[in-house]
Amino acid sequence: MRRAVDLARRGPAHGPNPRVGCVILAGDTPGAPAEQGAPGGRGETQRAVLGEGWHRGAGTSHAEVAALADARGRGADVRGATAVVTLEPCDHTGRTGPCSIALLEAGIGRVVISVPDPNVAATGGADRLRSAGVDVVEGLLEEQGIEVLGAWFPALERGRPFVTLKLASSLDGRVAAADGTSRWITSDVARAHAHRLRAEVDAIAVGTGTVLADDPSLTARTASGELTEHQPLRVVVGLRDVPSGARLHGPGGELVHVRTHDPAEVLAVLAAREVRHLLVEGGPRLAAAFLRAGLVDEVHAYVAPVLLGSGLTAVADLGITTIADAVRLVPREVVHLGPDILLVATPTTNVPRTGLPGTAETKEK
Ligand SMILES: NC(=O)c1ccc[n+]([C@@H]2O[C@H](COP(=O)([O-])OP(=O)(O)OC[C@H]3O[C@@H](n4cnc5c(N)ncnc54)[C@H](OP(=O)(O)O)[C@@H]3O)[C@@H](O)[C@H]2O)c1
Repeated sequence: MRRAVDLARRGPAHGPNPRVGCVILAGDTPGAPAEQGAPGGRGETQRAVLGEGWHRGAGTSHAEVAALADARGRGADVRGATAVVTLEPCDHTGRTGPCSIALLEAGIGRVVISVPDPNVAATGGADRLRSAGVDVVEGLLEEQGIEVLGAWFPALERGRPFVTLKLASSLDGRVAAADGTSRWITSDVARAHAHRLRAEVDAIAVGTGTVLADDPSLTARTASGELTEHQPLRVVVGLRDVPSGARLHGPGGELVHVRTHDPAEVLAVLAAREVRHLLVEGGPRLAAAFLRAGLVDEVHAYVAPVLLGSGLTAVADLGITTIADAVRLVPREVVHLGPDILLVATPTTNVPRTGLPGTAETKEK
């Protein structure tokens, strides 16, 4: 399963489909092909790997089908073999056919699964395999399996995109000076880090206030300034128009203007477009609206050793008048980025049961 998790990581973090890995192992059931290989170092039997696969994104083969194809390419007989897969095989026909059927048709005798599929449209693969007489085991290394699924898992569980709120502020929590200038508070190292996250999400949102003040392009760029291959949707929230000459009309992801003040409506619009991970980049009023609605799953706070003393704060009024009502967050990771610090934290109302995207948590069961 550790190998399957590593294979899953090769898939793209963005897109509507999950990152999944699969390894097909020889002989695990009566009548299976003879076992090969040497015993493992910890009392485990080392079984020959017949095939490996991972999912490369929507519209391409699922990991199980890719692993079966790999085994076929190696001339391996997979009848009675074990498929070790990080996510429950799907049982529905979407852009590709059901993996449960592909495994049954290949004669797989045993399926070991890390994470049950939270997707109501696709779940049922384990039950179908069991009722066809396949030995099915679930829950192996489930924390690692969930961690590699990133934003996809909580997005499917919650029925809406996973929301990361990015703040980039001075030491005294400000995102712009009194005259409105804000470029740049954080260092180029911190900004390059933020661009890597942009390249992994499905959509980036800002309010119209930020569009009018900063004229951002909201693209994901490499260190040398080129656009990365994947460009997230560019989402503007608010009633005012985006000026016709705005950079948002230039090269980059599709521009989606959601004329609302309701964060839940924004998420519904994006969920309908199969967005799993939304990065909210401010400004202060949009950040406050998502926090007030309880729709922030994770905060990425870049803090620079800069003092401004006046100017807009990173988050506008949350309606909090006393310290007992403060929004408290659970810190998950602290990263040093040149002179700056990135704090990854989770609002206590949204503490998940395991690791989240952007964190280094990979505890083993
Ligand atoms: N350092 C940073 O990381 C950073 C990041 C972003 C922005 N900024 C700075 O933030 C400043 C802009 O601040 P801002 O607060 O005006 O930006 P904003 O939050 O991007 O935009 C505010 C506008 O969003 C719309 N809106 C959407 N949902 C809303 C809601 N629920 N409640 C209220 N308004 C909502 C409203 O516009 P409509 O009237 O059009 O409906 C509102 O005027 C700029 O100076 C910019 O440089 C800094």
